[in-house]
Amino acid sequence: MRPEHLYLLRCPRTGRPLALDIVTMENDRVREGKLYDPKGKQEYPILNFVPRFVKPDNYAASFGFEWNVHIQTQHDHYSGVFLSRQRFEQETRWPQKLHGEFILEAGCGAGRFTSCAAETGATVVSFDYSAAVEANYRMNGHRENVLIVQADIYQMPFQRASFDRVFCLGVLQHTPNPEAAFRALVDSIKPGGAIVTDIYIKDWVHWLFHTKTYIRPITCQLPPSLLYRWVRRWVNFCWPLIRCLRRLGHVGQAISWRLLVADFYRLMPQANDAMLREWAYLDTFDMLSPRYDKPQAIQTFRRWYEQEGLAEIDIRIGYNGIIGKAVRPQRGQLNTDMLQKDEKTELTCAEF
Ligand SMILES: C[S@@+](CC[C@H](N)C(=O)[O-])C[C@H]1O[C@@H](n2cnc3c(N)ncnc32)[C@H](O)[C@@H]1O
Repeated sequence: MRPEHLYLLRCPRTGRPLALDIVTMENDRVREGKLYDPKGKQEYPILNFVPRFVKPDNYAASFGFEWNVHIQTQHDHYSGVFLSRQRFEQETRWPQKLHGEFILEAGCGAGRFTSCAAETGATVVSFDYSAAVEANYRMNGHRENVLIVQADIYQMPFQRASFDRVFCLGVLQHTPNPEAAFRALVDSIKPGGAIVTDIYIKDWVHWLFHTKTYIRPITCQLPPSLLYRWVRRWVNFCWPLIRCLRRLGHVGQAISWRLLVADFYRLMPQANDAMLREWAYLDTFDMLSPRYDKPQAIQTFRRWYEQEGLAEIDIRIGYNGIIGKAVRPQRGQLNTDMLQKDEKTELTCAEF
């Protein structure tokens, strides 16, 4: 982290500002050090340039593994297919220039969307529960407007109600309580700020006829490195058949996924065979390994937005299932529940 980003961080337990002890610096960034609450006992290490607010052995370990094996796979400059940028633009529909704003990204993985957010010129605070932050740091740590931290969506180390924009793509279904995770995100937005989140859609027919439903209870308990080895072998074994199935269009794709091979040919026909296979290793592993996989019905997702008193709610079918967008009402328009929440913690957005 850069020392000048200290003001963006708060103790996740007390909400108080933190102080910084630097042990080693490299290229104007803190490589090793410690953050601490000067009025309390809490301390948080900075390791390999990243502040760590959570224990390393948590339920997201498989994500830490996959994003550190596939650091670049889904980054546009590497894949050459610009799918991440397209998805970021289509799903957020935010302006291309956002200088002076503060964006929060929850569950950043290897940071393919961090780059897109950073290119708007906004200050981007990006976090993940897993060791994926190390992959993201390798990809985006050089950017002056990016702060990457390892933290939990349920106990974020930031000031409440302080971000102009919050986005969270591909994450909520992988948390133990997606609704509570969503509420935590809403809490971090400034009045007048915007939120974009997505979630897998719950579809009983799809659920019933997908092989993953039956095999995941076993695979999600396997050590990530063992599962990943098996996934690669399986994808390699099936690959000639997967290529033939592409001739059957949608049907062929559905069969491939039911054979437990994540084939992206229809989404990115311009990608070469090696790239498609790399995405297949990553996404097949991603389908079988997460501890939690909790899709939601579209009505449920909409209700979460409505219950938080958000305005301009727009829920639609998107890349990952359902995509939701909304705005947190300005202070004068906040409903009673939101006002009570906001009054509990002083709103000091001016500091930002
Ligand atoms: C499928 S990946 C998506 C990563 C990235 N957003 C993308 O689309 O490339 C889901 C990410 O959510 C993170 N995650 C899961 N639970 C979390 C939590 N409680 N707090 C923060 N991140 C979490 C995982 O570690 C993982 O990197």
